[in-house]
Formats: sequence, structure tokens, C-alpha cells
Amino acid sequence: MIIAPSILSGDFARLGEEALRCQRAGADWLHLDVMDGRFVPNITFGAQAVAALRSCTKLLFDVHLMVEQPQRHIEAFLRAGADSVTLHPEAMPLLQVRQAIWEIHAAGKLAALCLKPSIPAEEVYPYLERLDMVLAMTVEPGFGGQAFMAGMLPKIKALRNEITRRGLSTIIQVDGGINESTIAEAAKAGADCFVAGSAVFGAQDMKQAIAGLRRAASNV
Ligand code: DX5
Ligand code: ZN
Repeated sequence: MIIAPSILSGDFARLGEEALRCQRAGADWLHLDVMDGRFVPNITFGAQAVAALRSCTKLLFDVHLMVEQPQRHIEAFLRAGADSVTLHPEAMPLLQVRQAIWEIHAAGKLAALCLKPSIPAEEVYPYLERLDMVLAMTVEPGFGGQAFMAGMLPKIKALRNEITRRGLSTIIQVDGGINESTIAEAAKAGADCFVAGSAVFGAQDMKQAIAGLRRAASNV
């Protein structure tokens, strides 16, 4: 099981310290939400900020690209130190999806596709054999602190069934509204990687929050 705090909910005046704080609190990965103000209304940070953070922590960098034409930015984020790159297929020409996955793998990094709530599970099926991870969003992309959409659970189940049916070991990541009460449902549906922003950064004690999430996810 992988717990990936989303630095989107961290203190942007001290992002380096926040990244290290996640590492010390027992996080597995650090989730980095890149937003361009076009694919989603909000703007966060780019490759330069990711590169600057790289020296602050050893955590695996899980870069979630919520940008138009993400294939144009893969190289920059790989150079910046991304260990995993997640793309929204509807943000790019479909003909370039395979090439983008290939590019990430050529750098020895993990490749993922993301399903926002309106996109069905089947959208990633043609690529499943080539993917390390599928991200199932349980909120509309764009902002932290939204409520978990339980309506996405059947999609997670369908994905897990398809991955099992094909004998693959693809990770299913969930992102959005994950906390100690929602994580169990997501885990039960078949997710094994959990992004959490507000639940981790909004907690009094980050270490306890991460341990609590881990406990709730394994009690299913
Ligand atoms: C939303 C982002 C999420 C966000 C999750 O577009 O992709 O990663 O940070 O935040 P919480 O856990 O607060 O819903
Ligand atoms: Zn995200």
C-alpha cells in the first residue's frame, strides 16, 4: 500500500520543508499536482519548482499533470526529477498517448493515465498492459479539500477486475477526498495507492494522520 500526501495542501511558502515533513511522517510518495489554469481553473507550479524540491526529500515524486497537451511537458518533468508521471488522455491527441507512455518508460520512470470522474474505466483499457498505474479521481480535478465521490467506487472495482483478469500488477491510485473514513471504501474497491491532501496537511500530527490512513486502508 502506498500513501502519497498531496503537497497542494501544504504551505506554499515552505514547500521544501513540507516535502521533508511528509518523508519524516512516513509517507511513501509525494504527490505533486501541476495545474495550468486551462485544463483546470487553478494554477499551481511547474517543472522548475519540482526540480527545486528534488533536493529536499528522497520521497518518490508522483507528478500529476493537470495541464493541456501534457505530452509537451514530460521531458521537463522527467529532468526535474519526476519518478512517476500521470497524464489525462483527454488533454492530448489520442494518437500520442502511446508515445508519451514510451517516453516516460525510456527514462526508466513510472507511467500512469488518469480518469477524471466523467471518463469511463474503458478509456484506459487499450493501454493497460503498458501502464504502471491508473489514477481514478474521486473529485473533479482542480482543487484540494473537496468531498469524496462514492459514485466512483464501481469504476475502481471495474478497473481492478480488468487488471486481475489480464494478470497485471497495475497500481490503482485514488485521488480526492481521501481521509480515514473514505479510504477503506476505496481500498475495498481495489485501490492500493492513496493520495491525500487535506487529510494529511490539515492534521495536527502528520505522522499520526498517515498511520491512521494506513490502518484504515488495511482493515478491509
Ligand atoms: C485535485 C488534486 C488532488 C488534491 C487532493 O485536483 O489532484 O491531488 O490535492 O486533495 P484532497 O485530498 O484534499 O482532496
Ligand atoms: Zn492529484
